[in-house]
Amino acid sequence: MDIFVVNKEEKEKADALATSLALPIKENLPEKGDFFLFYHNQKLYLQSIRHPEFKAFCLDFLSPEMLRKKATAATSKDLLIKAVGAVKKRPKILDCTLGLGVDSFLLMARNCEVWACERNKILSALWRDAAARANLQNIRFIDEDAKLFLKNTKENFDILYLDPMYPEKRKTAPKKEMLLLRELLGGDDDADKLFSCAWEKARERVVVKRPIHAEYLAGEKPVIQYRGKSIRYDVYLK
Ligand SMILES: C[S@@+](CC[C@H](N)C(=O)[O-])C[C@H]1O[C@@H](n2cnc3c(N)ncnc32)[C@H](O)[C@@H]1O
Repeated sequence: MDIFVVNKEEKEKADALATSLALPIKENLPEKGDFFLFYHNQKLYLQSIRHPEFKAFCLDFLSPEMLRKKATAATSKDLLIKAVGAVKKRPKILDCTLGLGVDSFLLMARNCEVWACERNKILSALWRDAAARANLQNIRFIDEDAKLFLKNTKENFDILYLDPMYPEKRKTAPKKEMLLLRELLGGDDDADKLFSCAWEKARERVVVKRPIHAEYLAGEKPVIQYRGKSIRYDVYLK
């Protein structure tokens, strides 16, 4: 996959990003390739080159939508908070699939001890940029595959949380920014393996987020389900 950093604004930051991600840097918008990253008004954006109609993506934990979600999570009405058992307790959680970090953000809002793994370097960069702007501090970020981390760590976790990418089968068009991320990430074909690693390591439960009609991850039937309109949480108790 060809990804560039465009050096139009905030040149020092763009240079540093290109170096840290080992990506080529361009002075002008590239015509060929898959994606480019650029800074605009102090924020990092991702743009598809092949699909210029997809809106450039930027993560913002201070947006009104994110702050609304945070407020709901803080009151424990959120299904995620119920699924991970954070209504009365404040468990230590490893989010094995950080992605955009929305779910981890909600778990932090509930004062859980949150650790999170993300293996995609571009998503990690977008997350780091947004986390720094929002001054998110009480999360331990691990820039590697969760399977590897779980194999090597001596840390123990009460809850292991999994939200792997699911092959897109919907007939209705998802938001353009979601299309962009799907194009970047593809599917997480090793999600069944991740489930086995998570099950071995969890002290209390493994929680898996799935589209509402999706089959069970690794074919394993959960003990409890929390069902929303379009997604559900499958809970596996130890
Ligand atoms: C659907 S997204 C997760 C969205 C996330 N729950 C949120 O709230 O934004 C899945 C993410 O998990 C990451 N991922 C999948 N398997 C992983 C693994 N084994 N280790 C680390 N990251 C993984 C993918 O790169 C992708 O960014």
